[in-house]
Amino acid sequence: MTSTTFPKGFLWGGATAANQLEGAYNEGGKGLSIFDMVSFVPKEERGKDIEMDVKSEEELNALLEETGKTNFPKRRGIDFYHRYKEDIALFAEMGFKTFRLSISWPRIFPNGDEQTPNEEGLAFYDRVFDELQEHGIEPLVTLSHYEMPLHLVQKYNGWADRRLVDFFVHYAETVFNRYKDKVKYWLTFNEINISMFSPYIGSGILVDRLEHKEQAVYQALHHQFVASAKAVKACHEIIPGSQIGCMLARMESYPETCSPDDVQAALDEDQKNLFFTDVQVRGYYPGFMKRYFKENNIEIEMLPGDKDILLEHTVDFLSFSYYMSIVASGNPDKAKEKGNFSLGIKNPYLEASDWGWQIDPKGLRITLNKMYDRYQVPLFIVENGLGAYDVVEEDGSINDDYRIDYLQAHIEQMGEAIKDGVELMGYTSWGCIDLISASTSEMSKRYGFIYVDQDDYGNGTLERRKKKSFDWYKNVIATNGEEL
Ligand code: BG6
Repeated sequence: MTSTTFPKGFLWGGATAANQLEGAYNEGGKGLSIFDMVSFVPKEERGKDIEMDVKSEEELNALLEETGKTNFPKRRGIDFYHRYKEDIALFAEMGFKTFRLSISWPRIFPNGDEQTPNEEGLAFYDRVFDELQEHGIEPLVTLSHYEMPLHLVQKYNGWADRRLVDFFVHYAETVFNRYKDKVKYWLTFNEINISMFSPYIGSGILVDRLEHKEQAVYQALHHQFVASAKAVKACHEIIPGSQIGCMLARMESYPETCSPDDVQAALDEDQKNLFFTDVQVRGYYPGFMKRYFKENNIEIEMLPGDKDILLEHTVDFLSFSYYMSIVASGNPDKAKEKGNFSLGIKNPYLEASDWGWQIDPKGLRITLNKMYDRYQVPLFIVENGLGAYDVVEEDGSINDDYRIDYLQAHIEQMGEAIKDGVELMGYTSWGCIDLISASTSEMSKRYGFIYVDQDDYGNGTLERRKKKSFDWYKNVIATNGEEL
């Protein structure tokens, strides 16, 4: 790879989310968030369903009562709330140009529907952004990363209710105004398509309250699209020169064979996935989705002006997470071997992580090209990485060569895509410091360059320790991707 592959100013860094990192779930005036209610999934129970969902009122109430009895790792995170200075110093040592974090909505508005923000919450992020600034690290801030205030679920059934649009926009405007001199890069909703798998995590919806679940989820998503577009508008007005993007869990679909039925199945899967970015980047609902709504008895209620808002306030860039590709078959009767948990069928050409996520670096180049061809806006990979069990050797070292191999192969393919002409703004690998897993709440599913001494039950000193990949990534950044 030539030294000119990655553009000057390429935003190398790492990514995190408040709910998996901060801990201090009941400090500083913070309200409960949806993920504070999701408990640990032991290995033997993993993969039965999308583990992070809460489906009913009954289930939620039981979880609320169980406080103290159940293992809720996201409530303790890795204590970034108190240790952010140490952690940011380590990111700076690696040479991070950017650090992706989210603001916990209930730290700012504990209930979500009040008018006055919680000053203690705002002050916390001031301290974090100041610390980043001191180290020359540009923050990349997600407004909503599965952290909706729980009260909005209980009172409104989350995004199923149109009133959420105003609550979210008020929250967004509050943080834009507060941090306008500190934060230039923003994202609206993390993995906005996650609601298709988990309506609770993606949209704060308890599905047992609904008659027509699919209708409600798409209606909620419409509200989120409108809220996102309004946030884009506000961001541009309040912070001149800012850039704000959408965020998709990208699932590149391959046909199982070259049979036209398989190719059609792969196209269907791909369209299901790209529907979200079609709305957020192009600014309108695509035809294939209108057909789907019609054939499935789904009617999206739109207010006058919604279509204009979507069209006029599209995002500046498209960000996405990339962990895997999927395989689609046109034969519904075919016995299917599971691929990535319940997504798609198994790809015999790929290896999988210990959690069954199929590893596909070349798919990253393919997907970058495909999305750039379709949208012609800058792309930003804001999550990618290998969840793995790490071993601390007797001498204290952690030799995570498997992680280096994974990241190296993916970064190499990013370079190829850039050479293909794709405009790529940056790369923030997921969980740059070990944190709590989103899907299983395990601590032992580690992604970081920095090891955190804590187990699945919260035992440990929380001491931070550099892994072998720490120095490797430091050199990648120092050479702007020239040395992998
Ligand atoms: C993405 C999420 O889906 O994948 C992150 O945006 C999450 O929050 C990441 O942590 C990896 O998933 P997991 O389940 O391994 O933590």
